[in-house]
Amino acid sequence: MEIIFELSKEYKTLAIDEAIACLKTEKIIYKIIEFNPELLIISANINYEKIKKLSKRLSLTYNVGELLFISPQSIQKLEINALRTRIKDYGTIAIKYRNRSMDADSQIIVKSLAKIFTKGRKVDLNSPDIEIRCLITNKKIYVSKNIFKTDRTQFEKRKVQYRPYFSPISLHPKLSRVIINLSKVRRNEILLDPFCGTGGILIEAAILSIKIIGNDIDNKLVEGCKKNLNHYNISDFIIYNLDIGKINDEVMKVDVVVTDFPYGKSTTTKGEKLINLYKRAFISIYKILKNEGRAVVGLANKDMIQLGENYLSLEKIYDIKVHNSLTRYFAIYKKIK
Ligand SMILES: C[S@@+](CC[C@H](N)C(=O)[O-])C[C@H]1O[C@@H](n2cnc3c(N)ncnc32)[C@H](O)[C@@H]1O
Repeated sequence: MEIIFELSKEYKTLAIDEAIACLKTEKIIYKIIEFNPELLIISANINYEKIKKLSKRLSLTYNVGELLFISPQSIQKLEINALRTRIKDYGTIAIKYRNRSMDADSQIIVKSLAKIFTKGRKVDLNSPDIEIRCLITNKKIYVSKNIFKTDRTQFEKRKVQYRPYFSPISLHPKLSRVIINLSKVRRNEILLDPFCGTGGILIEAAILSIKIIGNDIDNKLVEGCKKNLNHYNISDFIIYNLDIGKINDEVMKVDVVVTDFPYGKSTTTKGEKLINLYKRAFISIYKILKNEGRAVVGLANKDMIQLGENYLSLEKIYDIKVHNSLTRYFAIYKKIK
């Protein structure tokens, strides 16, 4: 089966890397057929249930579907392809689209597809049994049968301002979710956030049934973090109130570390120079990570990336505009024996 991931373009290549990381985490054998910032198409021998399980983790994908055909930007060719396609399932149908082309008329495209696919079927635009999706790009039209629609509103609802304990230091939940996914952590493995603040990363991890351990030097934040976790009915957690240098004495070895380092403006470093704090943090992370474990860390500036390389092996770097005046560098490291 060929599977299409309809990607969000908001953070450059992060969406595609997130989807690939999740395929690897779920140990799915796949072959990449096509990719660009708008979509990823893979071929894999898997069933819908496995696709749904994988898709539930994603934050930067809109839809995941079974690819029916790819057509050039020509109504005649689109209709020929649609006529050749057999939809075996019973039930009501809807044709939905996302138009990313500069000039294609989505209404004409949808009408052409509807003429063919709705023949002998009832249309239900709200909750159809079969949703045909049509991704219109500048050159091609990708038509698929949808398998999973990501609930992206959930991330908006969990934004820091809606949590009982508020501080502006927390990342957007969809960004927290992505960096967790990039660590390739599996259900029931242990994730540590040694700079957990208000708990944004821990909340997203716990929702994925990952075991969570947090830590922060600021007791007010530790208490706030616990309050936030309870608010989302998360009760299985350990939160320490330690300096980063002390965590490796207390905390058991963990599968992954996912964290957003302090960056010295609104997030306190207790007067410590950033470079010194980061060095101590990398030493602790190295000690606490299991072999082959990954650390995905948000850093204040590019120069700090190589500091981590003294202890861990660097796999990839992303520069992400968190908001207008703030770029964060997210680095993925691996602990190699
Ligand atoms: C960028 S914030 C983390 C925000 C967090 N991801 C959230 O969702 O709220 C960095 C955190 O590091 C903590 N911190 C600063 N210095 C520390 C140290 N020496 N040891 C442990 N935590 C420290 C700060 O109190 C702050 O909460």
